Amino acid sequence: MRSALGLESELQTNPDPELLQKVLTVFHVPLYIRALSMFPFWQQVKKLFDINPIQHVRYFEKLGRKVLEIRKKSPSGRRDLFQLMLEAKEESVKGTQKLTDEEIIAQTIVILAAGFQSTAYTLAFSAYYLALHPEIQEKLRQEILEAARSIEDASTYDFVNGLEYLDRVIAEVLRLTPIEFVTVRQCNESCDIDGVHFPAGVTVFIPTFAVHHDPDLWPKVSSAVKSVNQRLL
Ligand code: HEM
Repeated sequence: MRSALGLESELQTNPDPELLQKVLTVFHVPLYIRALSMFPFWQQVKKLFDINPIQHVRYFEKLGRKVLEIRKKSPSGRRDLFQLMLEAKEESVKGTQKLTDEEIIAQTIVILAAGFQSTAYTLAFSAYYLALHPEIQEKLRQEILEAARSIEDASTYDFVNGLEYLDRVIAEVLRLTPIEFVTVRQCNESCDIDGVHFPAGVTVFIPTFAVHHDPDLWPKVSSAVKSVNQRLL
């Protein structure tokens, strides 16, 4: 909330139960929508009945509008993401349209939705794997302790970026449990890739989880637990 929207929300120490419940279930797509979205007529049905697979959009829209009002009235003076959007609204770049209020609100919803669940799941899975592998946990702890000794403020962006082993641990956690287990793209122009024809307009599901566990790409790994040890110790 602070780095993206410049708001002091105290979410860690004094969580707002409604906001937390909403952001954590924003991608809980109802079963009927998941089933319908597999059919070619899905786009038409979606448009006809104004169905949005993302949950609680109205709630987030209201929140986004409130944030915009607050930030317009009292500029924070910080260079956070919201500030950049406000400046983009003021500046007119040649050939491109300025950001409208509606677009800023829409971006706020994306930032909230994309930022919460991804981070929460990554941290939860990291804690899970570190609990399973105390030796990796200890190695990581040592890296953090050593780095903290040589730097005064152990909460800065630069400090975290200097932790090479932490980076490897998170990368391996995300390989084993990719937050986005499937990536969806729409084909704009018809094309052929590796002998497969993709007509224009078709929706392509790229199975991230399967790629991350493909034995041809990760040949020496036979189980998730073994993989963590082999790759990180
Ligand atoms: C460990 C944490 C995170 C992971 C693993 C993660 C992963 C991803 C992935 C895989 C995508 C691509 C989705 C797609 O194109 O289909 C994505 C997009 C995005 N993420 Fe994250 N993300 C994380 C944290 C965050 C945070 C903290 C924010 C914001 C504060 C954020 C904001 C976004 C936005 C705005 C997009 C959409 C970009 C676009 O489509 O142009 N993410 N993220």
